Amino acid sequence: MIPYKHEPFTDFTVEENRKAYEEGLKTVESYVGKEYPLIIGGERIITDKKLASNNPSNKDEVIGNVSQAGRELAEKAMITAKETFENWRKVKPEFRADVLFKAAAIIRRRKFEFSALLTKETGKPWNEADADVAEGIDFMEYYGRQMLKLKDGMPVESRPGEYNRFDYVPLGVGVVISPWNFAFAIMAGTTVAALVTGNTVLLKPASTATVVAYKFIEVLEKAGMPKGVVNYIPGSGSDIGDFLVDHPATRFISFTGSRKVGTRIFERAAKVQDGQIWLKRVIAEMGGKDTIVVDNEADLELAAQSIVKSAFGFSGQKCSACSRAIIHEEVYDEVVTRVEALAKTFNWGDPVDGKNLAGPVIDQAAYDKIMEYIEIGKQEGRLVAGGTGDDSKGYFVAPTVFADVTPNARISQEEIFGPVVALSKASSFTEAIQFANDTDYGLTGAVITTNRHHIEQAREDFHVGNLYFNRGCTGAIVGYQPFGGFNMSGTDSKAGGPDYLQLHMQGKTTSEML
Ligand code: NAD
Ligand code: ALA
Repeated sequence: MIPYKHEPFTDFTVEENRKAYEEGLKTVESYVGKEYPLIIGGERIITDKKLASNNPSNKDEVIGNVSQAGRELAEKAMITAKETFENWRKVKPEFRADVLFKAAAIIRRRKFEFSALLTKETGKPWNEADADVAEGIDFMEYYGRQMLKLKDGMPVESRPGEYNRFDYVPLGVGVVISPWNFAFAIMAGTTVAALVTGNTVLLKPASTATVVAYKFIEVLEKAGMPKGVVNYIPGSGSDIGDFLVDHPATRFISFTGSRKVGTRIFERAAKVQDGQIWLKRVIAEMGGKDTIVVDNEADLELAAQSIVKSAFGFSGQKCSACSRAIIHEEVYDEVVTRVEALAKTFNWGDPVDGKNLAGPVIDQAAYDKIMEYIEIGKQEGRLVAGGTGDDSKGYFVAPTVFADVTPNARISQEEIFGPVVALSKASSFTEAIQFANDTDYGLTGAVITTNRHHIEQAREDFHVGNLYFNRGCTGAIVGYQPFGGFNMSGTDSKAGGPDYLQLHMQGKTTSEML
């Protein structure tokens, strides 16, 4: 087997690649506006209730009309997944891994189409959409190989006359609840991690990213995934979210999304329901308030570039996005000036033509929330760039920078999830790290410094799941930088890491007397 290596990113300065992306867009346009059913046990089910998934750059464009599961169909899917588990759990890990490798190969062949679909359905700029699809491919390639490493369990000792084994067995039915912002990578990654470990899945994707999830299930089917192993049941959180989380047959929940929903799931899953004979496992990866710290001994252009790219790439709609920067007072003014200049020239607008690096925000609710935070920011800091929005056609917000914000201000503490960054001053490196840690979250962070002692100090004291030095704080690579956060950022499950799959299994010890 070829050793794992991450999928390369596409170079869009190459004309051939731009043409391929445009072809991808044409393919997507050929199916824009179609209807999509649920998939339960391989059966396509059209429901009366449908929800349109719209293009956030052009809100009148419907990408797909997607059937919505209510409780009755969610129950049907649960029964199917429970029954299918009895076969699937015995299917050899090699078979399960092969389905992932085959699916990765299909996606690789259709990479530009999937990327273009992300541009249309979630407003991702080309480079970000390409990275999202590459990450999804990586999850399949990496988890497939990880499963092959774990298939014979872990070595344990045996005494003379004894044969001991320690094996991993699957858990049962998993409910996978995914967000819209990595509509391919996280949806696919969390789904295949559950499947390759021998579980069956009910996939409830985010309402604003249902078409790409449907297309992915089709790929899994083509790759040989048996019917009923993964069941596609889009539906609103309020209609079926609690129902699936509470269900006594749910064995585990793999959730990625907001802190509000994640903590709700965590609490509800803790309650043992009538007929439930296990404690549910919960993987909950939630929000962030991610900080870049700039030291007084630092490459200041690198600092400004890192802040701007991490804050405004995909319009700040990444859990890993830089939403605050804490800058040493000796270099503060210079960094602010550089960030201001870069923010003012950051291309934003409809990403479909491949020129804009920041597209729209996902929907009206997100737009309204971000604009409210911009108003709050005007009270809490000095607006140095952006501050405007336009929701007439799509949901566009200008890359926005506030300077002179105190680290405990609301815009410095609450997750905005849009293209807004707050800049604050610290009197020393130690104080900068204290300010950086002073949030409820702990997902990503970065330190820009040339001081080796400060790198080591941050390694010990900067309390985040993913800490980067002399670069931005987004863009973790599967198998290279396992991803997950501390505190209210979640359960630190470390997606794309060597111990992620074990979260979907339980260890079984057998001991035979010889
Ligand atoms: P969200 O919490 O609104 O929705 C996530 C999913 O939960 C969706 O599928 C939604 O339909 C579902 N949901 C809503 N209510 C539910 C309920 N009561 N029960 C069960 N499911 C329910 O989040 P979002 O807006 O899709 O995504 C943005 C958030 O996700 C941000 O906070 C971001 O930081 C976070 N995020 C975290 C990570 C990470 O790895 N830590 C990665 C991506 C996004
Ligand atoms: N894994 C994504 C990143 O690191 C969220 O930016």
